[in-house]
Amino acid sequence: QNVAFMAGQVGKDGYRHYMEKELHEHPVAIGQTLQRITDPAAKTIALPELPFNPADVPRVTITACGSAFYAGMVGRYWLESLARMPVEIDVASEMRYREAPQPNKGVALLISQSGETADTLGVLRSLKKEGQSIVSVLNVEHSTMGRESDVVLGMVAGPEISVASTKAFTAQLSVLAALSIEFARARGTIDQAQEEKLTASLLDLPSKAAEVFTRVEDIQAMARVVAEARDVLYLGRGICTPIAYEGALKLKEISYIHAEAYAAGELKHGPISLIDRTVPVVAIAPSTILFEKTLSNLQEAKARGGRILAFTDAEGAKKLKGVAEVIVTLPDVDAFVAPILYAIPVQILAYEVALLKGTDVDQPRNLAKSVTVE
Ligand code: G6P
Repeated sequence: QNVAFMAGQVGKDGYRHYMEKELHEHPVAIGQTLQRITDPAAKTIALPELPFNPADVPRVTITACGSAFYAGMVGRYWLESLARMPVEIDVASEMRYREAPQPNKGVALLISQSGETADTLGVLRSLKKEGQSIVSVLNVEHSTMGRESDVVLGMVAGPEISVASTKAFTAQLSVLAALSIEFARARGTIDQAQEEKLTASLLDLPSKAAEVFTRVEDIQAMARVVAEARDVLYLGRGICTPIAYEGALKLKEISYIHAEAYAAGELKHGPISLIDRTVPVVAIAPSTILFEKTLSNLQEAKARGGRILAFTDAEGAKKLKGVAEVIVTLPDVDAFVAPILYAIPVQILAYEVALLKGTDVDQPRNLAKSVTVE
């Protein structure tokens, strides 16, 4: 896919930027992707046939770059917890030169919007030589990575023009969630009722994702605090830690504000020393089992003068009252799909901050949509 060519073909449909348009396409990208890999009536997963039995796979090695890597991090949590699958993960530029031993019958899982990223492609080729089965999660299926994979799990996100990835991220997560359910079924770690419940929570996502856009005013209130800062700290826990990474990356990419993301439990081992009124803390905090721990981390940050900005749900909002200065209350979802839903407002926040800063949202300086050099 030639992005410049596509940009000539794909309009902005009345939106100010491609990024704004593509943010609004999250519900459709998730819905279309799921349509292809689920049986909605039976509430089961229906992926293309895999050239191996997941029950025989000793390890999955996940590799990607940028946002796709953070999607892979979420995928690791799902594969480990749902399918009890050992997972190795690294960014492609590191994986390529690590000389990590590969297990017999192992599976390499590559994630890429474009299917052309040089580092990820390099890992695909070297792991193929090492005898790993190659599974790729791609938006552009007719790409170099698509041609060289044993199986392509296609996202159906449509062309993504904005340099900063948006809808491809939630489409990647949707595929990885389905793959994890498929692995769990094959490995006998979930029963049919659990598969139906998990699949139903995925199928519910497009409407929940659309509901996020009714919270834009609250996200704008958050953006006004972030836009004044020079440094911002993003915190998540467990499966939402990668969403904190994604939020920090997106903010850096398009608003040029320095942001760092941490697993909230690591706050006390270093980054807490940075906190004062000038360093806002953005928390990705759905009220899942780790919520109380995140809450106490946030209370510590507040006690040091930090301004807390939280993405949570109705239950979490009650407990964050008095702790967080701005709360964005998101629709209730099953903990399984929370990282997919929470990625959306986190990306909208970066977009709103970039608008306040007046940066070139679709073409941020020094960045390319597809990095085909090492
Ligand atoms: C570039 C883009 C990012 C993207 C990354 C990986 O850095 O700016 O938005 O996440 O490449 O791209 P891929 O096409 O492999 O997903």
